[in-house]
Amino acid sequence: MKIQPAVSLEGHVAVPGDKSISHRAVLLGAIGEGETHVTGFGRSADTVATVNAMRSLGVDVADLAHDELVVSGVGLRGLGAGTADCANAGTLMRLLAGIAVGQAGSIELTGDESLSQRPMERIAGPLRQMGAVIETTEGHAPIGIRGGGQLKGITYELPVASAQVKSAVLLAGLYATGQTTVVEPTPTRDHTELMLESAGIAVRRGPTSITVQQASALRLGEVAVPGDFSSAAPLLAAAALVPGSNLTVHDVGLNPRRTGFLDVLERMGAHIAVFNRRRSGREQVGDVQIQTSELNAVEVKAEEVPSLVDELPLVALLASHARGKSVIRGAGELRVKESDRIEAVTDPLRSFDAHIRSRDDGWTINGVPTRLKGGRIDARGDHRIAMLGAVAGLASREGVEIRGAESVAVSFPGFFELMESLVRR
Ligand code: S3P
Repeated sequence: MKIQPAVSLEGHVAVPGDKSISHRAVLLGAIGEGETHVTGFGRSADTVATVNAMRSLGVDVADLAHDELVVSGVGLRGLGAGTADCANAGTLMRLLAGIAVGQAGSIELTGDESLSQRPMERIAGPLRQMGAVIETTEGHAPIGIRGGGQLKGITYELPVASAQVKSAVLLAGLYATGQTTVVEPTPTRDHTELMLESAGIAVRRGPTSITVQQASALRLGEVAVPGDFSSAAPLLAAAALVPGSNLTVHDVGLNPRRTGFLDVLERMGAHIAVFNRRRSGREQVGDVQIQTSELNAVEVKAEEVPSLVDELPLVALLASHARGKSVIRGAGELRVKESDRIEAVTDPLRSFDAHIRSRDDGWTINGVPTRLKGGRIDARGDHRIAMLGAVAGLASREGVEIRGAESVAVSFPGFFELMESLVRR
């Protein structure tokens, strides 16, 4: 697919429901009591993998509409034995592992080629400490989990800031005797904690720790999923870059642990307004307007990385267009995402004439406030890299050809159509 340069982006849009929250709504609905009615469900390859995984373990999930479903809960320990195909979804595999260890039967978790290369001992380790019988394949998927054992609560200090690992341990904690505490080096997204609270679970939160107790039941009822901030981000980035743009994204999730990208944009000098701030359940929601402005270099440090981890490739692109030297540090986790996102960004941006160097844990970028030449980008099967390529194309002189553009369907089917509806050429 070739994305031609844009003159501007203008208009008002809404993006599909949040992927992290959609996964959690289906997973917690499945082990809940009664029916969970999910609206604003962000239907994508990743979240459909979660629906299918629950179905293959005996859960009834009814599709009421494209963005609406009903999950019939089987109770905390009611999942059947079997194999769950997690496709490309790391969130699914890691969170489901935390639930599977509490079931009576054995569950195997498999994934596609990319997911099968991602590190899984990071969840297997703490789950084993809790007494689970769990085996990875040399640290990766397939993962075999033997149910039926008794788990005990632990205190686990996360060696890397990861919401997926935190969530896996907390979910296993619902099945473990005593209490289970996770200590975070840096705050990561707290959708699991918020949704557990909505489901009637007591979650004790300290400055750096989260504690849950063994539970007998949870009940979600209704979940209204806000728009996915990470899906809004490429559109916001494009409007920040392409001169004369003015874009508003409505009803988007603004959980403060997710919106580090807005803080970075503001520090770079972007013109942003957030209005209609409100709550949807325990999550924050609002509308975000952005207008093009001159951008300055920025420094991103390790502490804020979890709050914009999926948006960092976009920060690298923005920094390539921003006046001065930008440094992004403490982002080594990008090397174990759906692709090695540090190299997946550096190679193409250099070929577009950006002055970008990769570091072990991020990038150093000498930005120049002008359009990049453009050229080709290989998405490497990674949805976020495909979307980065599209934004780069709009902001370029000669356009960008994206290899593997179809991978956007992992989180945002319809991305290109929505983006094009905003573009003036
Ligand atoms: C997610 C957590 C993050 C993020 C991923 C979704 C989640 O991963 O990159 O897209 O829903 O918990 P890590 O926990 O591996 O940082």
